Amino acid sequence: MKYHQKKTLVLNILDKLPSKLGYYFYHLIQRRTFKSIDSIITANTRSVKKVEHILTKFNISLKNQTVVEIGSGWLPIMPFLFKKHLNVTKIITYDINKHYTNKNILSTKEFFKDVNFKFRNSSDLNLPDFIDYFPKTNIINAQIENDIRLIFSRFVLEHVKPIDIQKMHEKFYTELDEKVKILHLISPSDHRAYSNKTLSYYDFLKYSQIEWDKIQTKFDYHNRLRLPHYIKIFKDIGFKITHLEYDTTNTDTDKYLKYKQLNIHSDYQKFNEKEILAGSICILLEK
Ligand SMILES: C[S@@+](CC[C@H](N)C(=O)[O-])C[C@H]1O[C@@H](n2cnc3c(N)ncnc32)[C@H](O)[C@@H]1O
Repeated sequence: MKYHQKKTLVLNILDKLPSKLGYYFYHLIQRRTFKSIDSIITANTRSVKKVEHILTKFNISLKNQTVVEIGSGWLPIMPFLFKKHLNVTKIITYDINKHYTNKNILSTKEFFKDVNFKFRNSSDLNLPDFIDYFPKTNIINAQIENDIRLIFSRFVLEHVKPIDIQKMHEKFYTELDEKVKILHLISPSDHRAYSNKTLSYYDFLKYSQIEWDKIQTKFDYHNRLRLPHYIKIFKDIGFKITHLEYDTTNTDTDKYLKYKQLNIHSDYQKFNEKEILAGSICILLEK
């Protein structure tokens, strides 16, 4: 059995346990399979540089501003980097789960020794005072301050149900001021391919929705949306897309050859190759 098949099997078993117990074991597994924090910091720093580059192009400064993050994840690295490189005043971060732990905060802190952050002395999590963390909170139901400059997400939207993507953006559109920009970094590829190099980054597109729902679980949910799906959701709500960039796949690469060997499901055949293959999407929305 290949690694991704074993992982699918384990996650499917955990998915059938009562939620609390399932998440307990899932956290244990995640901790054991964590990549080195150095490589995570490097990847996050690349993302912050990308964000900085786009914001600079649009003359948007985050200095002394408040930013909202959707999907805090496991480590508060993006908030630390937003503070260090972009000088934000505050970052309010929401997650439907609670993945931060004091151990993770401490290991992140180790990498930012050069910056003098003030830390809270809390009975729960000892986060720096510029981070407001709202775990177990779906942003759709949150009361978002209007005095923010940017709503940001990194590698989150692909894990959100399409109806929730629509609802959260309807909320942003109706409740927030025009000066608020929204920037999403989206990874629409099959995440199983990161750990199994024999698998295509588009492998999951060969399955029908029913088949894919038997493979994925609440722990590794991926909506498989392609670029045109995202564009349609945002435009239908009324957003302007003022910046869009994404990776393309050259036809002389192994990635492309693996894609060509797939029998793409009819649900995706309405899209052209460029639309299906669009990877690492970065999209800026404005009212
Ligand atoms: C793959 S992780 C990415 C975390 C982090 N942004 C990063 O770059 O490492 C996706 C995170 O989004 C969270 N998430 C999924 N749906 C969400 C939603 N509707 N609102 C807030 N967070 C959500 C998950 O719990 C998970 O922590």
